Amino acid sequence: MSASPLDPTFRDDLPAPEAYDIRLFLPEPIARTPGRSIWIDQRTVFEEDLFDDRLVHPGPRRRTYVLRRSEAGRGVQWLDSAGKPVEHVPDLLHDIAFPPRVWMSDSAMERSMMFHAARLARGDVLVGGLGLAIYPQFVRYLARPVTSITVVDNNPDILRLIGEPWVKSVGSGAPPITLVEATIESFLSSGGTHTYDTIYLDTWGDLHWRFLAAINHLVWLSESRLREGGQIQAWGLWHIRRALVAMAVELERAPEHWTTLDTSQSPVLDEYMRWRKAQPEGPLTAQEVEAKAGEMARTIRKPGSTELYLDPPRFGRFRTVPL
Ligand SMILES: C[S@@+](CC[C@H](N)C(=O)[O-])C[C@H]1O[C@@H](n2cnc3c(N)ncnc32)[C@H](O)[C@@H]1O
Repeated sequence: MSASPLDPTFRDDLPAPEAYDIRLFLPEPIARTPGRSIWIDQRTVFEEDLFDDRLVHPGPRRRTYVLRRSEAGRGVQWLDSAGKPVEHVPDLLHDIAFPPRVWMSDSAMERSMMFHAARLARGDVLVGGLGLAIYPQFVRYLARPVTSITVVDNNPDILRLIGEPWVKSVGSGAPPITLVEATIESFLSSGGTHTYDTIYLDTWGDLHWRFLAAINHLVWLSESRLREGGQIQAWGLWHIRRALVAMAVELERAPEHWTTLDTSQSPVLDEYMRWRKAQPEGPLTAQEVEAKAGEMARTIRKPGSTELYLDPPRFGRFRTVPL
């Protein structure tokens, strides 16, 4: 393939006002139930975050949120007042220490990001991560020249509670929609021979450079399932790469932090710091830093965990998040 199937200049981190009020099929609220990985809430908002800004609506907007239990407490041992381990921690107590995460929502920001990608969809489309199915709904809304939509998601609750009702609501109209329960990693590397014209990847929960190597790996895996002339878009990738470069520039100004920095969970930053420490003494220019960090942000790839999100605890002393 001659041109890169992933346009490195494609940005989805920009407001798309035309997407804020498009009618979507969204699930009704579902209470938190033991044994279920997600629950669904709806709220009326008058304003909301929009990238680095605050968006004030002219009137109320109903927004839908998919929540899940935080994983920040994984590995934390609870003790009772006598110092004995607590075997079963009630959800309420767990949530006070480790607040539930809004996993996805149809916020103006999410709508904007999906909208930019959906505007490019064509041909046979493969989607990694169903979520609220905003991306495929926008593809249909925009009447993109799409021949099929295949959505891969590894969470059975998302597929049952969101995916299946949405597919039912669409009916049998074109293009055909197929839901697949699998991790996108296994789907892409399963040796399947079916290829796609568009692959849209959105399986990570946070715009953090810690996931860069894993996302680059997913993009690389996707290339083998792409037709000649096909394209790949990845949620927030431009923004994440830029954040990594900004961090490298920031670190250039603070060499006193280099020895104490924990980069063990950020393969790209880790490799960058190895390279940086091996350079001759003296500061580098911002252009030198940007060129090297930018190249690494685009090229370093490494299989990651299938769960790519950061769950901060409410109280900092439980766990610190390394860079
Ligand atoms: C942020 S949502 C995607 C939102 C979606 N783009 C939309 O249009 O609403 C992420 C989804 O990816 C799924 N997911 C997370 N890790 C995955 C993996 N390794 N393979 C497949 N799906 C995954 C989650 O279950 C979740 O439904």
